Order: sequence, then C-alpha cells, then structure tokens
Amino acid sequence: MQNIKFFSRLIFLLAVLPVGLANAGDPEAGKASYMACAACHGQNAEGSPAMKGPALSALSEKYIVAQLEKFQNKHRGGDPKDTAGLTMASMVMTVASAEAKANVAAYIASLESTKPATTISGNADNGKALYGTCAACHGADAKGNDLMNAPSLINQHDWYLVTQLKNFKEGIRGTHPDDATGAQMRPMAMMLADDQAINDVVAYLSTLD
Ligand code: HEC
Ligand code: HEC
Repeated sequence: MQNIKFFSRLIFLLAVLPVGLANAGDPEAGKASYMACAACHGQNAEGSPAMKGPALSALSEKYIVAQLEKFQNKHRGGDPKDTAGLTMASMVMTVASAEAKANVAAYIASLESTKPATTISGNADNGKALYGTCAACHGADAKGNDLMNAPSLINQHDWYLVTQLKNFKEGIRGTHPDDATGAQMRPMAMMLADDQAINDVVAYLSTLD
C-alpha cells in the first residue's frame, strides 16, 4: 500500500515538474543565448535603430515568450511586406525550444530599461487624449498588463511603435487566423484615423517613464 502511494506521488511529481521548470526561465542560461540577439537588440536590450531592432528590456517575460512563439509559427513576420518581421522570424530558431525561449526572456526581463532618443514629432497633448482608449489594456502608465496580454509601451523606440501601429492598421500584423491577441489590437490601431494621430499618441508615450 505504502509503495503504491509513493509511486503515484512520484508519477504526479514527474508529471508536473517539467511544466513548472518550463515556466520559470533561468536568466543565467538565457544570458548565453542572448549573445545571438545583441547584434540587433543591443547589449542591454536597448534596441538598435540601425538594425530596426526594438528595445526589449521593458517587456514582460510572458509577452517576450508569446512574441517569440508567434515569430516561430509565422503568426507574426509571415507577411512578405513585413521585412523587419521576416528578419526576426529567421532569428528565432536560435531559441527554438520552449526552455530556451523562457530562459532568454528571463534574462532580458532582468535588464534595466532606459529611455531611447526621440525621432518622431507629434502633439503629445492630443496623443494623451487619444491614449485614453489604450489605457484599458496597456495601463494608465503604459507599463502593460500581462492579464490582458498587452505589452509595455514605455521606453520603446518611437519609430518602432509607429511601424507597429501602421502594421496593425494595414493588416501586416494581427491578421493571421491563429493570432488572437494581435486580432484584439488591430481594431484599436484602426481607430487612429491617420498618420498624425499615430505620431501624436507615440509622442505622448515618449513622455512617459
Ligand atoms: C538580425 C537582427 C535580429 C536578431 C539577431 C534578433 N532580432 Fe528580435 N527583432 C528584430 C527586428 C527587426 C524586430 C522587429 C520586427 C518588427 O518590426 O515587427 C524584432 C522583434 C523582436 C521581438 C518583438 C518585440 C516586441 O516589442 O514585440 C522580440 C521579443 C525579439 N525580437 C526577441 C529576440 C531575441 C530573444 C533574439 C535572440 C534569440 C532576437 N530577437 C534576435 C531583429 C532581430
Ligand atoms: C483591447 C485591448 C487593447 C487596447 C484597447 C489597445 N491595445 Fe495595444 N495591444 C494589445 C495587445 C493584446 C497587444 C499584443 C498583440 C500581440 O500579441 O501581438 C498590443 C500591442 C500593441 C503594440 C505593439 C507593441 C510591441 O511591442 O510590438 C502597440 C504599439 C500598441 N498595442 C499600441 C496601442 C495603442 C496606441 C492603443 C490605443 C489607440 C492600444 N494599443 C489599445 C491590446 C490592446
């Protein structure tokens, strides 16, 4: 009897253990695989305008893993017009396993995030008013909300935010049938009437920290 109990506990532990490990990434292990990312995302994940690589350091582990999965499954970066997304989609193979993705995300999330230089001019006051609708998911402080799958938008390069809003509007991002969270964001981007509105809301985001 004792033995049966012991073995059933052991089997239970073996069944749940790998799940637990896969969720909690190991930042030390992730540091080594981040070497392959630094060329485009910067040593401290501050981003690289020259390589069109966004900053990653303000993003949550959950969002980073989710986006890596999307690039791997071509739910993002699969559109031939999405040249920057295609670049990233080819790089994701260096962190192909679930464990590697969790580890690299844990390492990135451990880095300090800094404010990038601004390159876009927009009306931040008008942008603040427009941001009212966005706050429901991204938070009043724009630091994101994992429960809503909405990423942080602070300390991000303004040119990257503009590109993403245009990608959502034009259907380059958020239109794959299996991209449920992209589909939530797409109608929000479509509410921004024109390029000026996009620049304004991004100018407002650049004032936050
Ligand atoms: C050759 C350049 C390059 C390399 C190397 C690279 N990336 Fe990227 N990555 C990009 C570009 C460009 C984008 C932006 C794609 C877009 O505009 O949609 C991106 C986007 C991302 C995003 C989405 C960010 C967001 O805010 O949604 C994540 C996460 C990411 N990369 C993680 C990584 C990780 C982790 C590695 C290393 C395993 C890596 N990248 C290696 C170029 C690169
Ligand atoms: C209904 C919830 C919701 C609302 C409202 C919303 N978003 Fe989002 N947003 C999301 C989600 C979810 C994602 C992640 C999409 C994905 O997984 O690819 C996202 C992604 C983004 C991204 C891409 C960030 C990156 O790192 O690639 C930007 C930029 C963005 N949102 C800006 C806005 C702006 C500006 C508004 C207001 C006009 C807004 N969002 C309103 C849910 C929302």
